[in-house]
Amino acid sequence: MSTEGLLDIFVTSIESRLDDILPNASEHSQDLVDGMRYAVLNGGKRLRGSLVCATTHTLSGSYDNALDSACALECIHAYSLVHDDLPVMDDADIRRGKPSCHKVFGPAMATLIGDALQPLAFNVILECADIPREKRLEVAKVLSRSAGWRGMVGGQAWDIQLTAQSELRVEELRRLHAAKTGEFFVAAVDIGRIIGEEHRDDQISAGMRRFGEYLGEAFQVVDDVIDCSESSDVTGKPIGQDERLGKQTFPVLLGISQATAYAHELLGKAMNELNQLGFADSVLADVAKRCIERIS
Ligand code: IPE
Ligand code: IPE
Ligand code: MG
Ligand code: MG
Ligand code: MG
Repeated sequence: MSTEGLLDIFVTSIESRLDDILPNASEHSQDLVDGMRYAVLNGGKRLRGSLVCATTHTLSGSYDNALDSACALECIHAYSLVHDDLPVMDDADIRRGKPSCHKVFGPAMATLIGDALQPLAFNVILECADIPREKRLEVAKVLSRSAGWRGMVGGQAWDIQLTAQSELRVEELRRLHAAKTGEFFVAAVDIGRIIGEEHRDDQISAGMRRFGEYLGEAFQVVDDVIDCSESSDVTGKPIGQDERLGKQTFPVLLGISQATAYAHELLGKAMNELNQLGFADSVLADVAKRCIERIS
């Protein structure tokens, strides 16, 4: 099977496992569980989960043991999107081509829907019977760190503060992207490595982390480019929201064509890391290409 075919299988397997993991009924609030399903099972690209599976598969030849952790990361990512879209954050009405979670369930319930997805993710990891206990703890540690004040939430807070400032330098923007977006990409490869490796190899660990960093940054540059250059039909999100919110982005700082070139340069650097590790022909290269294929 081609590596691209394998990548499609990761996506289908993640979708199906997420369907199993998410609750169906609640004696407390049916809206809460309906909202959790709505927020997660509504057509995401599953790039971060695929990255977990691809890393484990590249290191061990199988990805089954990584599926639960891939789904946990997708749940945390989905929660971050629900909160990011709230009226008090980006105030975005569309997500994944459908009304965003707060448009369907209301802002208060959407906040709780996001909240509930976080412990669910950690519960899935801690109860995962496919991997040994010590690996579960390591995976939970990586995920909690990447999602918290040093990672995504820290980056989102910084995003709010920096948006209020008029001048922003490229280096600051890079660090902001690394926190709010890059940390999940790095966590994905770290988690995939923890599950897939038999013995720790510092060279693989460091190289894969650099790969995740370059890919995460490239991905956010692409997201910013398409926010100002594509239609809502293509992105499934409100278009021009960064400009509306006064966000400083790479297209704002460099212009669309230079920002696009920068994303390609970052992809090149990510691919170079794979080359150095001997993983250039692995499914990891397909995930990397998929992360930036939305721009030309
Ligand atoms: C959107 O990520 C959030 C950003 C970091 C820009 P994705 O574009 O990967 O979202 P889904 O999961 O495919 O909807
Ligand atoms: C937010 O970035 C990334 C998150 C941590 C959720 P954006 O605000 O640019 O993401 P989109 O464009 O709404 O998906
Ligand atoms: Mg945002
Ligand atoms: Mg947003
Ligand atoms: Mg965006």
